[in-house]
Amino acid sequence: ADPTLAARAAAAKTALGDRVFILGHHYQRDEVIAFADVTGDSFKLAQQAAARPQAEAIVFCGVHFMAESADILTGAHQRVILPDLAAGCSMADMATAEQVEQAWDDLLDAGVAADTVPVSYMNSSAAIKAFTGRHDGTICTSSNARRALEWAFGERGGARVLFLPDQHLGRNTAVGELGMTEADCVVYDPHRPGGGLTHRQLREAKMILWRGHCSVHGRFTRDSVDEVRARIPGITVLAHPECRREVVTAADLVGSTEYIISVVDAAPAGSAFAIGTELNLVQRLAKRHPDKTIVFLDRTVCFCSTMNRIDMPHLVWTLESLVRGETVNQIAVDRDVATFARKALDQMLALP
Ligand code: 13P
Ligand code: SF4
Repeated sequence: ADPTLAARAAAAKTALGDRVFILGHHYQRDEVIAFADVTGDSFKLAQQAAARPQAEAIVFCGVHFMAESADILTGAHQRVILPDLAAGCSMADMATAEQVEQAWDDLLDAGVAADTVPVSYMNSSAAIKAFTGRHDGTICTSSNARRALEWAFGERGGARVLFLPDQHLGRNTAVGELGMTEADCVVYDPHRPGGGLTHRQLREAKMILWRGHCSVHGRFTRDSVDEVRARIPGITVLAHPECRREVVTAADLVGSTEYIISVVDAAPAGSAFAIGTELNLVQRLAKRHPDKTIVFLDRTVCFCSTMNRIDMPHLVWTLESLVRGETVNQIAVDRDVATFARKALDQMLALP
């Protein structure tokens, strides 16, 4: 790595002052996190995106759907920049707007669309968020999925939820937190006609889970949990709800990245944790707490490759371009899409 990059990033950031606001998701590399004005999970970053209204540029160190959400939630005078445009999310890509429109047509055909509420994970494109807003649904993140479902079935009066695009977060929340059964959940496969479901299955389901998942969290298995418990007796297993159901049921504690950090930070010296989430975050926690045993839940390396695309060369290029008065890699969501996506995001921000 080029040792001058940190100095160049620092100089550019100082030159820009309050004109730039740098947000960093917890899965970012340490050297990038060092320059973030705010770090957070996806919910906190959505809440904070507009926190510096005088910033003309918001540099989002995270992935594409987060930068889109920041653009939707911030003022028209603010430009959102993603330092590497290839920083996408394979889970978000598992639900395209066309596929979701087709699914809604399938629900209409089955006569169930009218009392179905779309609840879409933050990890989705702006187009999917707009679909959600058009049908009076809500966005959720891993830190408020329970409240989102309670709202959908309660205040919003839904009979069932179409949960996009992470089947694991949907199932873990419905079954693990709201007391539904596995039989209340069906999986809609966008690659099969009618989602691979009969009208009767759609009618009887409480949760229609989209067949999507996170390839990073999908690597953890029940064996990972058993193996670490055998290796380090008494260890506390902490898992992100994007993990499969078998991992979440075997874990001791489950929650978003912000929750995982708060548990580890608050634990007394000598505590031991096996953490099932992205590796940059786990390694950072291990470094921050040398008095605690902190291990990655699985033996195989598990970075999120797209989160990792944001590196020092990209950050420096982005900031130095701004110093020269140039905006690179702007993420600008289409106005019509943004209007309805904002409706769904505002619904999430208003959840009790
Ligand atoms: P949170 O930061 O909301 O826990 O989400 C994890 C994630 O996968 C973001 O892509
Ligand atoms: Fe997407 Fe998973 Fe990476 Fe999060 S960790 S950005 S859900 S691929």
